Amino acid sequence: MEFIRRFWESRGSEHGTAPSASWEDTGCIALEIETLADILPHRARLLDVGCANGHATFEIAPKVEAAEVVGVDYSEKMIEAARRRLIEERRVKEERLSGGDETPAIPMRFEVADVRNLPFDDHVFDAVYGTRVLINLPTWEEQQGAIEQMLRVCRPGGRVVLMEAFYEPLARLNAARLVAGLAPLAEHDFNRYLKEDRLSSWLKAKGLSFSVRPFSGLYYVGTRLLRELVSGEPIEGYRSPLHDAFLDVEQRYDVAPFSVQQAVTIERS
Ligand SMILES: C[S@@+](CC[C@H](N)C(=O)[O-])C[C@H]1O[C@@H](n2cnc3c(N)ncnc32)[C@H](O)[C@@H]1O
Repeated sequence: MEFIRRFWESRGSEHGTAPSASWEDTGCIALEIETLADILPHRARLLDVGCANGHATFEIAPKVEAAEVVGVDYSEKMIEAARRRLIEERRVKEERLSGGDETPAIPMRFEVADVRNLPFDDHVFDAVYGTRVLINLPTWEEQQGAIEQMLRVCRPGGRVVLMEAFYEPLARLNAARLVAGLAPLAEHDFNRYLKEDRLSSWLKAKGLSFSVRPFSGLYYVGTRLLRELVSGEPIEGYRSPLHDAFLDVEQRYDVAPFSVQQAVTIERS
C-alpha cells in the first residue's frame, strides 16, 4: 500500500498545480467535472475525497455555487500543491473584489487525510464525492470501508457520489478490441476497478437507493478503439485531435455500455 501513496507523492511533486497531476487524460477529466457539476447539490457543504492537487475541486466549486468545500488527500505533496493554488485563487479573487466583482469567495480548505479513516464527525457534509480514488485501494473490503466512511460523514438526505472506473465496460471494450485484432487494455498495475454487479448488490443489500451515470462510453470507444483502428497505430498518450473530436461527440451523445468511467450517486437515507 505504501508504494501506491509514494506513487501519488511523486506525481504531486512532478505535476504541482497542473491539471494533469491525477491523469494525463484531461479530456476525460473535463467530462468528470461536467458530470459532477450536474449531479452535486448547489449551495452545499462539499467534501472531495482524494482531491489530488484540487484541480477538479477548484473547477467544480463555482459551478455549483458551493457553500463550503473541503478537499482531502493522503498525499502531502498533492495537498501542498492544492494549498499553493488556493493562495493564488484568493489573490486573484481579492483583485476582482476590489475591481467591483460582488460574487463572494467560496470558503475552501485542503487537509491531509485517508479516505479509509476520515477525520470528520458524522453527518457534517451535504455531499461527499471522490473521483478515481477507490480504485487505488487494493481490496473490495477496503473499498467498502471507504464508501462507509463517505456515507458516515454525509448527512441523512445528502448525496455521496462515487466517480470511478469499472471493470465490466473495460472487459466489453477489450472484447471489441479482440474482435478487431487489437491487444487488450489493462488497468494501471495497482488499480482495482470496481465491479458494477458487486457494488450494486452491496448498495441494494444496505437498502440504499442509487443511480448510475455512464458518462464516458463514446469517449472510450473513440479514444481506446476507433482511434487505433483508424490510425493503425498503437495508442500513445491521451492528447490528439481524435481525443478532442470524441470528447466533443461524447458531450452530445452516449454509448453507455462502454462507459469505463461512471458516476454512482447514492442518496444517503
Ligand atoms: C487518480 S487521482 C484522482 C484525483 C482527483 N480526484 C481528480 O479528480 O483528478 C487519485 C488520488 O487519490 C489519492 N488517494 C489514493 N488513495 C487514497 C486514500 N486511501 N486516501 C486519500 N487519498 C487517496 C491519491 O493520492 C491521488 O491524489
